[in-house]
Order: sequence, then C-alpha cells, then structure tokens
Amino acid sequence: MSASDTLEFNPFLPEVHEDPYPLYHRLRAEDPVHRSPLGFWVLTRHADVLALLRDPRMSRDPRRSRRVEQLRASAELDELLAAEEAAPSMLFVDPPDHTRLRTLVNKAFTPVAVERLRPRVEAIVAELLDRVAGAGAMDVVEDLAYPLPVTVICELFGVPEADRDRFRAWSRGLVHLLDPLVAEDALERALRARLALRGYLRELIAERRAHPAGDLLTALIAAEDQGHQLSEAELVSMCVLLLVAGHETTVNLIANGLLALVRDPGARARLQADPALAGSAVEELLRYDSPVQFTSRHARTDLDIGDRHIQAGETVVAVLGAANRDPAQFPDPDRLDLARKPNRHLAFGGGIHFCLGAPLARMEAGIAIPALLARLSALELAGPPVRRDTVTLRGLASLPVTFRAAA
Ligand code: HEM
Repeated sequence: MSASDTLEFNPFLPEVHEDPYPLYHRLRAEDPVHRSPLGFWVLTRHADVLALLRDPRMSRDPRRSRRVEQLRASAELDELLAAEEAAPSMLFVDPPDHTRLRTLVNKAFTPVAVERLRPRVEAIVAELLDRVAGAGAMDVVEDLAYPLPVTVICELFGVPEADRDRFRAWSRGLVHLLDPLVAEDALERALRARLALRGYLRELIAERRAHPAGDLLTALIAAEDQGHQLSEAELVSMCVLLLVAGHETTVNLIANGLLALVRDPGARARLQADPALAGSAVEELLRYDSPVQFTSRHARTDLDIGDRHIQAGETVVAVLGAANRDPAQFPDPDRLDLARKPNRHLAFGGGIHFCLGAPLARMEAGIAIPALLARLSALELAGPPVRRDTVTLRGLASLPVTFRAAA
C-alpha cells in the first residue's frame, strides 16, 4: 500500500506494480466493490469476480463502454480504433458473434489436440536447456520462458522464423492496449503496432492462400473461403489474438512461476523430489502470481453489485489476481502450496470467455518448469528480477539466475 491512507486502486504506483497483493487484501476487506478515481469499478472478491464473468448483463465489447466513446474525440485515435473495430476478435465480442468465432478454433485447442504437440514441446524445451546448461547462468525469460511459447504458437500458425523478431516488437507494443488506462501517446503507439501487425498478417494470409500448408492458418483460410464463416478482417483479428496471446501470457506463467520457486527453496525441493506434483504445481503458480491480473466488462444495463449501483455503459474491472488470493476461497492464500486442493483459481477467467489456450499453456509450463528443475540445481538469483511495465499482464522482462547443471 502507498504511504497515504486513502484506499485507491492504482496499479501503476511503483510499489503496487512490484507487489499488488497487500493492496488487493485491503480493497477486498474494506471496499470490495470499489469506485476507482480512474473512472471504473473494481472487484476483488472471488465470488464477485466469478459472478461478473458469468453475468449475461455484462458485455465484453468495448464499443459498449463510455470511455471508448470519449477517446473518439481525437480524430486520429478514432481512425486507428476503427481498423480493428470493424471486425473485433472473439475476446471483444458477445454472442452470437463470440460463439461463431470461438467454434471455428475450438477444435485446435482442446486438451486432446494440444496433447499431440507434447513431443514437440518437450523437444523445444530440451533444446533450449541444452543451450544454457553448460554456462552455469541464464536469463529465464530470454532463454526459456519467452522462446518456448513463441516457437510453439508460430509453428502452429506457420509464421516463418525470420519474421519472429518483428512480431515480438509489435506484440510488445500492442499489449499496452489491455491496460486499464494508457496515456494517449502510448495508446497511439500501441494502435500503430496493431495496425502494422495486421498488415503483416494480411500478407502472410495472401501467401498461404497461394501456397496452402498443413497449419492452423491454412485451416482458418479454408473456413473463410469455403464456409463464409468469417470475413477476412475477422480472420486477421483472430490471428492477432491467438498469436499475441501465445506470445505474451505463458511467458509470464513460466517466469513468475520460476521466480516464486527460486524464492521458496522448500517448495522447489518438493517439486524436484516429486515430479508427479507438476500438474497441481502449475495450477498453484497460476493462482499465486497470476499472469493476467485483470479483465473488464461493460454494463449493458443499470445493475447492482453488493450495495453499489452500476450504470449502463460503466466499466467493471475484475481483479483476477485478487480473487486468486481471497482467503474466503483459499485458506492461507499468500502461501505457495504446490499440492493445494481444491484450487478454483480464476487465472484463466471464467464464463464464456474462459481462456481458449489454457490446455496449451498448462502443457507448456507443465513441461518447462519441471524440466528446468530436473536439469539445473542450486538455482539462485544472479541479480534483481526486472518487471515488465504492463499492469494487466504481470510478468518479468528479465530473471537472471545461476545454477549447477545436474549430472
Ligand atoms: C498462462 C497463460 C495464459 C493465461 C494466464 C491466459 C489468461 C486468459 C484469460 C484471463 C482470458 C479471459 C479474458 C476475459 O474473460 O476477458 C483468456 C482468454 C483467451 N485466451 Fe488466454 N491465457 C493464457 C494463454 C493463452 C494462450 C497460449 C492462448 C492461445 C494460444 C490463449 C488464447 C486466448 C483466447 C483466444 C482467449 C479469448 C477466449 C474468448 O474470448 O472466448 N491464451 N486468457
């Protein structure tokens, strides 16, 4: 909490950015349906967050938000916003469009479909660890947490390796769009990055249309061409969403998770001794320091949450990271308990927008984290971890460690 006594949700304060959990505890206890001075409502209780995500009176569509209407006052921003809004991705629409779009890709991300990728994920992890094992030191983000999910999602889509660096820059730029409040110049930069990425994807789609391959992009193009199930603009938005989600989230799960384990040698030793704990360990790491801290919804009608009145068009931020530390749901919530059961965390959201990529993220982290611990022992921080500057996505830009390679 800041030095001041006023209770305010401001995730941009440096001390909150570093460790938001003390503020979340205070908000949950003292003002669980909080009216933020930033202009939106903030929910921190597990029960309220889950109810919000399941509430059909709440929309995911930003076109229903008053704030977006205000941004339109700037003609330049208006034009940049329009490029995506003509065909938003499934994450930003309500049924029936949401149902139609999600159905098209569901098949590719079911646990059974994702299981087929296991040997490839194991091979990538082994290759990445081979590269660093002899060095005695690595940056967990650069050397493992980032390249793993990016390689997997780019291979699924058939994005050429040579283009991946450009991708990284665009993706980094546009994730600022997810933050609850962005300065206008940062917003403009983020919108431009999104436009550049869309342009690149249109070229990639044209190329793949001429030369079909066995990848997900080819399958989506077929859905556009033959079934008329999605427009070209929707196809581009779908690719932006999946590629960016594949770039920006699992990296945080692996890096935040390993940081928690480096800081807690007891938990680390437990997982090293019992690899069968991997599944529940990943769930606990998702809960303990959630890679996506917030999501939001916009009220379609006037409604009440607890004793507070929300007006139509107002935005409600659901703090997943706070719900995941709610003592009413999780006994001793600040303790990392790799065997925690039950563990009804909301790190992947809930309701109809529940994360499509959850099986893939779980598999990648479930392979990468135990593999690192099996091969590299005596993990120690080699310097301070560096946080990413985004607040919705909670992650690390750098996590330098030293280790001993196991025989
Ligand atoms: C640890 C990693 C991940 C976390 C913590 C995470 C978290 C989330 C959350 C919280 C939502 C719901 C947002 C909302 O309700 O507003 C979501 C939705 C989504 N995620 Fe993930 N995600 C992860 C990985 C992935 C991956 C790897 C992919 C794709 C390959 C992916 C694709 C999606 C998609 C497409 C949606 C939108 C689903 C819909 O609107 O129906 N995610 N994710």
